[in-house]
Amino acid sequence: MKVVIIGAGVAGLSIGWRLLQAGATVTILDRAQPAHGATWAAAGMLAVTAELEGAHAAERDLALHANALWPGFASEVEQASGVPVGFVRSGALLLAPDAAALDAMRARGPVLDAAGARALVPLLADGIAGGLWAADEAHVDNRRLGEAMTIAYVKAGGALVPQTAAVRIEQKSGAAVCVLTPRHRYHADAFVIAAGAWSGLLGDIPITPVKGEMIALAPPAGAQLPGPVIWGNGVYLVPRDEGGQKLLLVGATMQEAGFDTSLSPDVRDQLRAGAQSLIPALKQWVLADHWAGLRPKSPDGLPLLGPVRSGNIFVASGQFRNGILLAPAIAQLMADMVLGKTKIIPAFDPQRFAPRFV
Ligand code: GLY
Repeated sequence: MKVVIIGAGVAGLSIGWRLLQAGATVTILDRAQPAHGATWAAAGMLAVTAELEGAHAAERDLALHANALWPGFASEVEQASGVPVGFVRSGALLLAPDAAALDAMRARGPVLDAAGARALVPLLADGIAGGLWAADEAHVDNRRLGEAMTIAYVKAGGALVPQTAAVRIEQKSGAAVCVLTPRHRYHADAFVIAAGAWSGLLGDIPITPVKGEMIALAPPAGAQLPGPVIWGNGVYLVPRDEGGQKLLLVGATMQEAGFDTSLSPDVRDQLRAGAQSLIPALKQWVLADHWAGLRPKSPDGLPLLGPVRSGNIFVASGQFRNGILLAPAIAQLMADMVLGKTKIIPAFDPQRFAPRFV
């Protein structure tokens, strides 16, 4: 079977990789560079508690399944590519500003009092009452992951065509036959749109870009990164230790602003202030970076994973805040679906929005 995937982010690359392993011939087109959209801009959190509180049961199940797949997926990608992806099962601490908030957290899982929280993160601000300890949370170096996925996919025999925007999917007798790009037509038996925030540009796929700005802080000599991921006061802090370089990532805003990824000094300062309200010593850390990315959001906030009306066009988009977390599960699910080996999960059925391609 010949498959063309539109979008070389972590979703498209990992779906392509699984399809290659199953014997398919795969080409991935990307409008820019592989793994340089949300895959690059993310913080790499596998935040199965912090992000999925109150989520639809189907999404929680998918996220828990993905979280369980992650250790094996990370080592498989590392082995295939030779690139370490920095998977760390660090746990996450969701801070409670006061005793009432801490009490409310008890229903969600084990909580730590102020002393317990400080034992994990010694530099926490005074006055924090403690927090929810989510031991299953992890993080991965999403930029290394993008690099590793690209190498693993190409080594497995996948074709990659960067700087090539898909203009239209052409259909004949009700089935898609090729993707038209400015230079070339790419013919295939099946097509997967995994273009993140850009997934809606090819047809009536209801995906809205949601901008997130982030900053990175670099520690002064001798300062340690916090061990766990930390959430509180409207920000999250993710330690990133790249061997030589240590950074603390601070995120992230949520703004519907089309495809605008401009940076705001006010947002930068707010993120920094939020981080310092949790760990005052961060005042001494140096601002090392500031960037923005676009999350793909569907109208109900759930992913779109499945075929659209023509039957051989599939969508894998709408991961919103959880694209890195969900990647291993979505890769297997979508590869199996394209190969006709598994059924759609009704909550993620793209047909709920009746997408069309004209
Ligand atoms: N999952 C983190 C974010 O979307 O900001």
